[in-house]
Amino acid sequence: MAKVLIINGSPRVGGNTSIALNEMVKIFEAEGVEAEVVQIGNKDIRGCIACGSCHEKGKCVFDDVVNELAPKFEEANGLVVASPVYYASANATLIACLDRLFYSTGFDKTMKVGASVVVARRGGLSATFDELNKYFTISGMPVASSQYWNSVHGREKGQAEQDAEGLQTMRVLARNMSFLMKSIALGKEKYGLPEKEEHQWTHFIR
Ligand SMILES: Cc1cc2nc3c(=O)[nH]c(=O)nc-3n(C[C@H](O)[C@H](O)[C@H](O)COP(=O)(O)O)c2cc1C
Repeated sequence: MAKVLIINGSPRVGGNTSIALNEMVKIFEAEGVEAEVVQIGNKDIRGCIACGSCHEKGKCVFDDVVNELAPKFEEANGLVVASPVYYASANATLIACLDRLFYSTGFDKTMKVGASVVVARRGGLSATFDELNKYFTISGMPVASSQYWNSVHGREKGQAEQDAEGLQTMRVLARNMSFLMKSIALGKEKYGLPEKEEHQWTHFIR
């Protein structure tokens, strides 16, 4: 059975980001995809300090929810990251979490399907969507898409329920993502993962 890990970057339990994600979870259940939601926006998560100890230990030096998410991510066929928009950007707690999660985990993320979801009152949605998708596109992760950029509108808790187009976008996204995860699982059985080259690191230094 395909598994998807869903990281909710909102600090508000039952907020608009949760409403958007619940719409996806309903579809994942109908599609036979196991979905686990972890809400991290209300947790105390500090940023990366570039100590590099993860290169030796294989996990982050700060032993918090990031190290709990790592094995769940490794096991998952797909990852959804969702954020409320704060000042036309993702919530800072989510960014701290994703920087450390992606940087500290050495496992192969190739062909795990990624999708990002953004929620806002009015503006900054597509900038935040682009910001979040960059974690996937540096990691060999195909990005699932929908009928529109994956955004839902609402300000006060519950208002997202009124955004019929936004919620439909979430349902279509979850269906497309389920299809991709299942198809990639079949493709991996038949063809294996794409051949890997040793990474050339040049850092723009001559
Ligand atoms: C610090 C802060 C900054 C915000 N910045 C924006 C913004 O740039 N654009 C916007 O449309 N809404 C902004 N909002 C509103 C939230 O994105 C909106 O209320 C959203 O529904 C919150 O999702 P949640 O209920 O899951 O927490 C901001 C809210 C906060 C608390």
